Amino acid sequence: MTMKKNLRVLFVSSELAPFAKVGGLADVSYALPRALAQAGVDVRIVVPLYRRALEHIRSGGISYHPLLDGLSVELGHRKWKFSVVETILPRTKPGVPCYFVVQPDLYDRPGIYTSAPDEHIRFCLLQWAALKICQYLSFSPHIVHANDWQTALLPLMIKTAFAWDQLFSTTKTVLSIHNIGHQGVFPASILHETGLAQVKEHFHQEQLSSGKINFLLTGILYANLIITVSPTYAREIKTPEHGVGLDPFLRARGHAVLGILNGIDEEIWNPATDQWIEQPYDENRIELKEKNKEALCRDFRISYDPKAPLFGIVSRLVWQKGFDLCIQVFPSFLATTNSRLVVLGAGEAKYEQFFRDLAIRFSDRVGFYAGFSEPLAHRIEAGADFFVMPSRYEPCGLNQMYSLRYGTLPVVHRTGGLADTVRLIRSALDPNDQGNGVVFDHFDAGGLSWALKWALQLWGSGDGMDRERFRALQRKAMRERNGWQERVQEYLRAYQMLLQ
Ligand code: ADP
Ligand code: GLC
Repeated sequence: MTMKKNLRVLFVSSELAPFAKVGGLADVSYALPRALAQAGVDVRIVVPLYRRALEHIRSGGISYHPLLDGLSVELGHRKWKFSVVETILPRTKPGVPCYFVVQPDLYDRPGIYTSAPDEHIRFCLLQWAALKICQYLSFSPHIVHANDWQTALLPLMIKTAFAWDQLFSTTKTVLSIHNIGHQGVFPASILHETGLAQVKEHFHQEQLSSGKINFLLTGILYANLIITVSPTYAREIKTPEHGVGLDPFLRARGHAVLGILNGIDEEIWNPATDQWIEQPYDENRIELKEKNKEALCRDFRISYDPKAPLFGIVSRLVWQKGFDLCIQVFPSFLATTNSRLVVLGAGEAKYEQFFRDLAIRFSDRVGFYAGFSEPLAHRIEAGADFFVMPSRYEPCGLNQMYSLRYGTLPVVHRTGGLADTVRLIRSALDPNDQGNGVVFDHFDAGGLSWALKWALQLWGSGDGMDRERFRALQRKAMRERNGWQERVQEYLRAYQMLLQ
């Protein structure tokens, strides 16, 4: 296959680290374009200028300049004016241009996602703006890469509303599904506000007549290629259990559905250079990790005991992440062992309340911080001995890969990307054992209990020979390679395949 030179990619996303992050989508929207640029691709990113993004730009002294002004799009009865400011994505070489769409009525709000009645308009504008920016800059993308429901109308827009423009005559579209649990389903009455009412016949007719419009489904029907973020999740979403109603449409797309594992940014997540952590360390100085454990216990005001294992959690506290199992298992696990637990996360009230209560009940051994904190996330990766992810489903998951890199053994449910990146350590004594963590098969209390007990077995007494044995497991975990350098090649192959 001959590789296309000067590949041009327009990457459109609703999140982008470090400007606007809710979860892993932000990390991927940063790291994938960065890796593509390093591989020689002319990639440009379009995102909304949320209040949070503007604050980040200003407080970080990041330079930006106005790029386009006086643009507008008509969505339904309202003409939305917008402008565009440009900045270069931090730490990228060659620099990746980020085009921020400025529309304060829609984006100058406290949150990134909202439950406001105009949520669909916020992301329709983003998509129209993305293609208008291409027109104003005469940027003719070979690939338009959309991410999740917020940008899933782009394939249809290119095939219809923008089909007249030569600029897009050879453009192919890729839709990444980061989480099929969120589909962007709205009442059909908002159709005119998508700006696509003239091409109504292209939407899924049965859905429309049942009074609904599903953004993600529209992307699945029209994208040239659908990529999801791990091979196992690519298989899972074709089943009724995990397809959340879209499995028949994915099955119908056959080989156009591909699973490519996310990578991690090995510069940002590097225990040897991490600015946030107490004591940098690497595989050869793994004993230094202990200082981070001590510091983490101080951060959470719990007692430090080198012989007691410390479990960590950093997560959105939502149904997907499987904390219902923690509710069933942790109280007795903590009551019957000397384990420590630290949790960083925000989300649904019932999970926040559970961890808050746990931290009161075991005040000496359990710490909980309700909120979002990048530094604390790093300190947990560095200081914990184990990292717990009992997700019901997990398209990819990044934290288990960060954990491996920090020698913090992941304890995970075998699902999605967790199944593709974590392998059960069957024997801590066998040097040929291929495992790198603890994996449980059954999503129930028995599964998680078993996994935590197996973690305790691996931990042993936490002293002497047991300690050495555990450090050997940690070193092995740290040698796993999950960087983007390798993974980006799979994206390049996928793009090339489309362009052949
Ligand atoms: P998801 O995208 O489903 O939330 P991922 O594992 O892909 O799951 O990515 C989650 C990302 O968000 C990780 O980088 C994780 O460290 C980060 N994160 C989640 N919650 C918090 C929090 N409360 N504070 C800091 N970082 C968080
Ligand atoms: C989603 C998924 C998560 C994945 C992330 C980045 O938020 O829940 O598993 O790692 O997207 O692709």
